[in-house]
Amino acid sequence: MSFIVAVDGPAGSGKGTITKKIEEQIGLINLDTGATYRCVALEVLRNGYSLNDEKKITDMIDNMEIKIKKDGSKDIILLNGKDVSSAIRSKEVTSIVSQVSSIIPVREKMVLIQRKLAEGKNSIVEGRDIGTVVFPDADLKIYLDASEEIRAQRRYKENIEKGLNISYEETLENIKLRDYNDKNKKVGALKQAEDAVYIDTSDLTIDEVVEKIKELIQNIS
Ligand code: DC
Repeated sequence: MSFIVAVDGPAGSGKGTITKKIEEQIGLINLDTGATYRCVALEVLRNGYSLNDEKKITDMIDNMEIKIKKDGSKDIILLNGKDVSSAIRSKEVTSIVSQVSSIIPVREKMVLIQRKLAEGKNSIVEGRDIGTVVFPDADLKIYLDASEEIRAQRRYKENIEKGLNISYEETLENIKLRDYNDKNKKVGALKQAEDAVYIDTSDLTIDEVVEKIKELIQNIS
């Protein structure tokens, strides 16, 4: 029997890094559901659609095929057979993805795709609404959190490493804005599931969080 681990939390809580490490260490399939919304945002930009044109955007998704190919420890995101792994991380995509992910028919379709990608395999699925909407019957639910300041510091450091010149103050403002958008969506808002294990990562190292989650996974009966 396969099992699903749902991991939700705000931007900068460490979800991506942590679930990737768990995938590498215990061989689960890691699904980054944000990548599916990023694929939709990329197609919107490529087609030049306005974000208000919900009908065109929703129709467009019927012609989108999203697949994930494992390449060693790397995940290759394939959109209609083409590798879009880097393109979906661009600044342009990042700046519209939150709005795209608020369109209700987009969410309905992405949830179906996400379920198909993870079901039947031992999977660790990360996002915002995994324990509440995508897999409400997940075998284990985790909610990762950290203070706004710590999450902004993490993003600020990552940006410096990438050579991006964004001040700490601006990074903190961006985090606050993303939290607000994520928590106030009409559908699929970021929310801790009632039966989720809450982990505050503010004062923990990545490896400490990984160990905690691995222990919880071992206890799935
Ligand atoms: O985790 P990320 O930054 O790659 O997510 C991209 C966007 O998609 C972000 O604005 C939040 C949204 N998202 C969502 O609404 N539901 C999910 N399950 C995952 C991401």
